[in-house]
Amino acid sequence: MLQLVYISSARNAPDVEAILAVSRRNNARDSITGLLYSDGVRFLQVLEGPEDKVEAAFARIQQNPWHRAIVARSRRHVETREFGLWQMAHRSPGGDGDAFVAKLEPMLARADKNVRATFESFAKIKRAA
Ligand SMILES: Cc1cc2nc3c(=O)[nH]c(=O)nc-3n(C[C@H](O)[C@H](O)[C@H](O)COP(=O)(O)O)c2cc1C
Repeated sequence: MLQLVYISSARNAPDVEAILAVSRRNNARDSITGLLYSDGVRFLQVLEGPEDKVEAAFARIQQNPWHRAIVARSRRHVETREFGLWQMAHRSPGGDGDAFVAKLEPMLARADKNVRATFESFAKIKRAA
């Protein structure tokens, strides 16, 4: 299966609840799992599932006007899902970021080092902001 990680810049005040609702519905249908990490300014998303479904979802995601400057940071084949079975886990701005990261830690420990570095640089930029 394919694991795709991208980052993007959010448009002003994106409607994350609406994004999550459509994502969870489509991802359940397409056997896609992953997470959406947002700080109100940027998104980091992990998508895991059948290659064709993940690529189709990513094509739709890239066209979404709620964000721009979308950059795929990592595209790799994995034997099993590294980020759990979440339909689309989410951490929102102002939510309990530390708890979310704590939950992610065991997954990041298993993840590829580039994927880990992507998360780390995301968190660092957020702290500096
Ligand atoms: C940051 C972000 C993340 C998204 N994640 C997903 C996703 O995981 N799965 C998905 O199907 N759509 C996702 N979308 C929504 C798609 O861009 C698109 O609106 C949706 O797939 C269209 O679904 P529909 O044809 O059923 O209306 C995301 C959009 C944004 C802005």
